[in-house]
Amino acid sequence: MTTRRPLIAGNWKMNGLRASVEAFCQIVAGANELREKVDFIVCPPATLIFQFIGSCDSGSVEVGGQDCHAEPSGAFTGDISAEMLADLGARAVIVGHSERRAFHHESDADVRRKTQAAWRAGLLAIVCIGETRDERAAGRTLSVVGAQLEGSIPDEATPRNLVIAYEPVWAIGTGLTPTPADIAEVHGFIRERLNARFPVSAQGIRILYGGSVKPSNAKELLAVDNVDGALVGGASLKAEEFLAIAGVYA
Ligand code: PGA
Repeated sequence: MTTRRPLIAGNWKMNGLRASVEAFCQIVAGANELREKVDFIVCPPATLIFQFIGSCDSGSVEVGGQDCHAEPSGAFTGDISAEMLADLGARAVIVGHSERRAFHHESDADVRRKTQAAWRAGLLAIVCIGETRDERAAGRTLSVVGAQLEGSIPDEATPRNLVIAYEPVWAIGTGLTPTPADIAEVHGFIRERLNARFPVSAQGIRILYGGSVKPSNAKELLAVDNVDGALVGGASLKAEEFLAIAGVYA
């Protein structure tokens, strides 16, 4: 059986100013003590990436972007390419977050192109998938997640270039979470699909759970089979909370 190193990733979304470097450095200090056991990635707004990487010897915490354009450069006002993120020293990028899919109408095909762009720039792609409340209520969770997985992940996936984040849309920022049994079902299904498509490397690909992860539920959620860590939104903005979640692996 392959052992996968746990990964705790923070998605700061549109939060954080230059003064937030203080919180980032608190995360780095705590991560230094857990680095033997856990990998850390923090994805702040793109405006802060360069500053964070230059601060407080950030070696135990990789810094990532929250989105990238599929093209390396060009007339795309307001967009940022994977190459630009890599140029700042970023090592990863979240793609296909449900907020991008909903507010920017990103399709699976868009997410697939962005994932390819991330790989072209040498970045780890954290690809997000997950069903809405209505889709779950209609019993369509696995078919939705299966289609997103198929459509969003390019053929060249490896454990080194890809992390999947299963984030039920209805659990993001709501305080609601699926039961451990529901998470086990979806993560097991994702693992099966990966095994079928990438027989050689699937066992090494990490699958994170995301959606209202906090210190009080982290132990239960991170213990679920095939959950290799968490993508944390709100609780990643507070160093103590983010570190308490990672502390489950201590
Ligand atoms: P949340 O967000 O932890 O605030 O629910 C998770 C995410 O959107 O990645």
